[in-house]
Amino acid sequence: MANIIIVGAQWGDEGKGKIVDLLTEHADVVARFQGGHNAGHTVVIGDEQFILHLIPSGILHEGKTCLIGNGVVVDPAALIEEINSLRARGLNVNGRLFISDNAHLIMPYHVAIDKGAEKSKGKERIGTTGRGIGPCYVDKMARTGIRVGDLLRPGTFREKLRKNLKNINMLMQHIYHSEPFDTDEIFSAYMGYSEQLRPFIQDTEYLVSNYQEEGRNILLEGAQGTLLDVDHGTYPFVTSSSPTAGGACVGLGIGPTRISGVLGIIKAYTTRVGEGPFPTEQNNELGENLRAKGGEYGATTGRPRRCGWFDGVSARYAVRLNGLTGLAITKLDVLDELKEIKVCTSYTLDNKKIVSLPHDSAAIDVIEPVYETLPGWQESTVGITKFEDLPDNAKAYINYIEKLSGTPVNMVSTGQKRDEIIIRRNPFET
Ligand code: GDP
Ligand code: IMO
Ligand code: MG
Repeated sequence: MANIIIVGAQWGDEGKGKIVDLLTEHADVVARFQGGHNAGHTVVIGDEQFILHLIPSGILHEGKTCLIGNGVVVDPAALIEEINSLRARGLNVNGRLFISDNAHLIMPYHVAIDKGAEKSKGKERIGTTGRGIGPCYVDKMARTGIRVGDLLRPGTFREKLRKNLKNINMLMQHIYHSEPFDTDEIFSAYMGYSEQLRPFIQDTEYLVSNYQEEGRNILLEGAQGTLLDVDHGTYPFVTSSSPTAGGACVGLGIGPTRISGVLGIIKAYTTRVGEGPFPTEQNNELGENLRAKGGEYGATTGRPRRCGWFDGVSARYAVRLNGLTGLAITKLDVLDELKEIKVCTSYTLDNKKIVSLPHDSAAIDVIEPVYETLPGWQESTVGITKFEDLPDNAKAYINYIEKLSGTPVNMVSTGQKRDEIIIRRNPFET
């Protein structure tokens, strides 16, 4: 039995979907533990592309069980749409997708507050996905949230909704100057969702504990990334959950002693979507070229992703915070044409060298990255599956990142497709 956590080691979109899909072959169960449909996980199989938002990327493997854990926030309409779009493509989810009754529901007012708050922040906006994620987690922490299990208790659901709308509608009318929400309307829509989701709702913590007793392998699929973590990320330009490895235990109800390994997914360069500091950003022709070559547009919102060099300081930060046991470097092929490649090894602030990411976003905004320049390889690595077959300079680049981060590179991804991968160590086989 092995329980492996997959986390994003940067600002999200590292290619977690691809790696989760790949490792699902060795797992029995794939489980999401935080975030919501702000995530967009792309899996390319042959000529077909799938983008998963709420449902674990393991769903594409028939016969594998998928869980949406208690730490996830669920927009039922979005979930039903995702289930239907998978069904339309011939994938059966019945009897193998389960949603925690303790997961919190995203309500229409969460979306309105998310969008309203962003608008009123103006230039200081976070650049959220506008999916209602933050306000839903606010209600969870304020203990006024409505949970997936409440869908099965109409009386409780209605009463909680009625109480919440008393406050929410004051906010809507007096602060956002918009129409109030109607209890009956939301109640009836959510009872409709309840009918469709009823077969999927379960005590997933109990399921997880049974799977462990049966000795099954579980893959815990993180969304977002370390630098978007609400505690450890570039606050306040973060998401509202814990995408780091600790979040996996809380978000599924699995004890830390049960975790066998933590694989960090990291791009061979860096991207960020939304606002916030980004020390190695290349807001220039190079950044535009990376965006074009890497197809760096959000899988959820379609927004262009900001692009820059690999940041060794934040990589080390991700290694520490997650206790990473290995790295999977993705999108190596995107760097194929470059003559020279830079890697940030430290920063300077007020003429002083710093080797750890500052906690203050304003400081991260003004630090200067110190770069090491490595020679490019200027030949194609697309589809290479053996480390020995990589050009020497590409091998040297991987070795450099390995040394800088202090963590073994277990995998190198050389293209979008499932089989475009170098596997040096499979976390389920050790
Ligand atoms: P996630 O949110 O971490 O799952 O990542 P996204 O799916 O949002 O973004 C990663 C993008 O990179 C997707 O379009 C993937 O298909 C693509 N991708 C993943 N690995 C590779 C790779 O090694 N090379 C290339 N060229 N594309 C990749
Ligand atoms: P995956 O799982 C990249 C970013 C948003 C915004 C901030 C807060 O595909 O890697 P939110 O809607 O969560 O309140 O927005 O977080 N963000 C992501 N960026 N990948 C993601 O998910 C993201 N999910 C949220 O752009 O900056
Ligand atoms: Mg993504």
